[in-house]
Amino acid sequence: MPKITLASNNKTYEVPVGTKFLDFCQDNRTPHDFGCTVGSCGTCRLVLEVGADKVNPLTDEEQETLEMCTDVAGARLGCQLTVNGDIRVRQID
Ligand code: FES
Repeated sequence: MPKITLASNNKTYEVPVGTKFLDFCQDNRTPHDFGCTVGSCGTCRLVLEVGADKVNPLTDEEQETLEMCTDVAGARLGCQLTVNGDIRVRQID
């Protein structure tokens, strides 16, 4: 099973393949901030310190939101992520 590690609390959780990162965070009450939950506000932006190739590909809509809210290379939206392998996540300001 894939493992999600959160840089914010340095905890690791096992999840089934195909888990939505948003669902995982809500189910586990993790320290990761969300707003709209539909990919438009950018509150949930993060970087994958490990496993950028272990999540679903970036869509044009996600890219548009990211361009409006961060200039961090490789940033993703937590509410749009599907976890398919081991990842380490750090939320960005
Ligand atoms: S919570 Fe708004 S873009 Fe993810």
